[in-house]
Amino acid sequence: MNQRTYRVAVLGGDGIGPEVTAAALEVVSAAGVAIDSTPYELGAARYLRDGFVLDDATLEELRGYDAILLGAVGPAIGDTRIPSGVLERGLLLRLRFGLDLYINYRPFRGVSGSLADGREFAIVRENTEGPYAGEGGVLRYGTAHEIATQGSVNTRFGVERCVRYAFERASTLANPKLTLVHKTNVLTFAGDLWSRVVREVKEEFSGVEVDYNHVDAACIYLVEDPGRYGIIVTDNLFGDILSDLAGAVTGGIGYAASANLNPARTGASLFEPVHGAAHDIAGTGRANPLAAVSSAALMLEHLGESEAAARVTRAVQDFKGDVAGLGTVGVTTQLMESL
Ligand code: IPM
Ligand code: MN
Repeated sequence: MNQRTYRVAVLGGDGIGPEVTAAALEVVSAAGVAIDSTPYELGAARYLRDGFVLDDATLEELRGYDAILLGAVGPAIGDTRIPSGVLERGLLLRLRFGLDLYINYRPFRGVSGSLADGREFAIVRENTEGPYAGEGGVLRYGTAHEIATQGSVNTRFGVERCVRYAFERASTLANPKLTLVHKTNVLTFAGDLWSRVVREVKEEFSGVEVDYNHVDAACIYLVEDPGRYGIIVTDNLFGDILSDLAGAVTGGIGYAASANLNPARTGASLFEPVHGAAHDIAGTGRANPLAAVSSAALMLEHLGESEAAARVTRAVQDFKGDVAGLGTVGVTTQLMESL
């Protein structure tokens, strides 16, 4: 048995975030992996109290961990004290860009609808470029002639490393298949770069079947026939939108896990459930920990603890209980018992 202890920074965040990360750590420990966790209080509550989002020193400290586990960040719905973008750009995106977490890997497994047989697919979302990069600006602000531009940044380097990662993932599937999703008929410059890179990298992965869908058509396919996908590779904004849709058609966002990965390992990778802070149920014991636990399983996989990762993933997949009735503690206990 691997005796290594992993150093993990735990950013519980706001609302139900701290509850679900605590549950995830319990399950990890029950799976036999030793974690030395260090809590960081970051998010809406910290910002409102101290005016602090994330400084360079803390970012550098976080870089040195074996992994980062994040719960959820954000104020309650209707709380307008924090301007939109302050936490998103200042914390989440700062972590993604600063730690070069260039892949956002989001696996989905059907539990209902047309994927009720448990088929799986995953979205590999480019995580540091596209319209998220922050290119653009405002001219003549507040006037009738105001101009706002927000460009999509697509570098050869960024696209290629994302596409290569997606092919590597696809090549491990029982049915190796990769679908590029874009809007090449309109976004002709960026679309052409993505298409050419996929064609080139494909040469290194002869066993992978390659397909292309326009993003609007992909929305229909995700609803009607998500089982057609293996790995979807796409840009940052399309990946953001498609992954919410994919979550919704595969049992709900309560299951959706994500890994913000730096596969080159020049900084700690970050693991977080896709769902938000759900302030309305925080502290009631009703938070659903399944997505956080699945995210922790992705963390275990990244740390090389594949056997423990598989056991935790299987426990979530086999979980059949009533989340609302069992509550956070009940679900967590059941998961630990079925490991
Ligand atoms: C996500 C979220 C973030 C994103 C927000 C909170 C900045 O929606 O992780 O999908 O857009 O990437
Ligand atoms: Mn999103």
